[in-house]
Amino acid sequence: MTKKYITTAIPYVNGKPHIGHAIDYCLADVCARYYRACGDSVKLQVGTDEHGNKIAQKAKELNVPVQEYVDENAANFRSFIKKLNVSYTDFVRTTDKKHEQRVKEIWQKLSGHIYKAEYEGWYCVGCERYITEKECQENGGICPDHQKPYEKLKEENYYYRVADFKEQIRDAIEEDEILILPDFRKKEMMRLLEETPDVSISRPTSQLTWGVPVPGDESQVMYVWMDALANYITVLGYPEKDISGWWPATAQFVGKDILRFHAILWPALLLGLGLPLPKTIVSHGMVLADGQKMSKSIGNVVEPLEVIDKYGLEAFRYYFLRHVDTFADADFTWDKYDDAYNNELANDLGNLVQRLATLASKNDIRINTGTSIAIYSEEYDDLMREYKFSKAFDLVWVKIQGLNKRIDEEKPWNLAKEGEIAKLYTCMCGLIKDLLQANHELAPFLPETAEKIQNVFAGDKIQPPKTPLFPKH
Ligand code: MSP
Repeated sequence: MTKKYITTAIPYVNGKPHIGHAIDYCLADVCARYYRACGDSVKLQVGTDEHGNKIAQKAKELNVPVQEYVDENAANFRSFIKKLNVSYTDFVRTTDKKHEQRVKEIWQKLSGHIYKAEYEGWYCVGCERYITEKECQENGGICPDHQKPYEKLKEENYYYRVADFKEQIRDAIEEDEILILPDFRKKEMMRLLEETPDVSISRPTSQLTWGVPVPGDESQVMYVWMDALANYITVLGYPEKDISGWWPATAQFVGKDILRFHAILWPALLLGLGLPLPKTIVSHGMVLADGQKMSKSIGNVVEPLEVIDKYGLEAFRYYFLRHVDTFADADFTWDKYDDAYNNELANDLGNLVQRLATLASKNDIRINTGTSIAIYSEEYDDLMREYKFSKAFDLVWVKIQGLNKRIDEEKPWNLAKEGEIAKLYTCMCGLIKDLLQANHELAPFLPETAEKIQNVFAGDKIQPPKTPLFPKH
């Protein structure tokens, strides 16, 4: 049995969970379920990023003690992740005392690559990121993502000497030792690496107190990304535990907006610790609403819970895993969502199950489902292992649509009318076995639906579902 470690980005808890967060969770969950079905032992980490200015400022605005604020929001995230049916094994909060203690030890281990100097430059609180002069000029001093002017900082900070590892990181990315997906982002990261200066990794407590204290210097707290990136290994018990069974991660899922932290600073920290680099970083696109970035100021934020409530969780997972290309930006509109539900889930899949089960039950057809579960097709396996999940899902759907066509062509109801029992039996068994094969491939994406379908055709007697799997709206 091989071990696979899958990770998700840990969201800032400065608000409610939104659709973008769901993308990381759903992709990582598909990956985890797929590997488990292949017989691997899988760890799937999720968690919450709870330090930094952004959160401290929001709590202050609301006049709530920060700890209380993050406790409440972290609980919202936890129930959101559960609602999405994410099969996680580990949940980490960056305000966990254990995490904080481990991060301090990590800092000490890295001390040979840390130095103190004055930082004079720009910062974006929305991005929680230091901005280079060049980038500031290119953007006219205003963050394009947050539409706020960059802040000018002049303060004494600790720096991490990324320069010590640039060559190693460049080679690792170039030779796909860290496979960055999609490929065009790999090139982008290699360009960015060349321009990356040493990274400031602390803030003076006169500016920010909501962070992990720097060991041995009470006047500084750690920069939020320093603390956040470490979650991927502190959750495994690093440094006191031997994590070599799980680390390096098989796949780390992140949005394209935070790929730079995972492709540059994170490898630099790992190399400083003498740890291996993650095998793959999968960067997904952004979910847009009507072609625009979802944002509170534009007023086009689509609430994930509202979307889930409309047709249920499986429809939500269906839309965002199939109609949102794994690597590209994609649009959410209610029209597209309604179409996908009615034409695909209700018509293609729901009807197929209903028709087949009804015919089987009327004609008393039973099949031995125990032997009907085939292994994955090679094409599906390849797509899943290349993390092209939306393409793999398309492949499953082609099979489902193909089965609908076959029923129309083979017309088993005529065989029944004509008393062609042997032919009817062969035809129905063929269709049901192929449906169960497709169902097996559907399972990582729509686990609850796949279980229902399996149950309909398993057992002594095939019984059509009492209510359709996806009632038409
Ligand atoms: N706290 C950091 C991550 C630290 S990981 C060590 C952070 N948090 S976030 O809340 O801003 O974003 C969390 C994840 O949600 C990121 O992967 C981000 O790309 C993703 N998304 C946020 N908005 C998104 C969309 N509109 N669409 C798709 N995903 C996006 O960054």
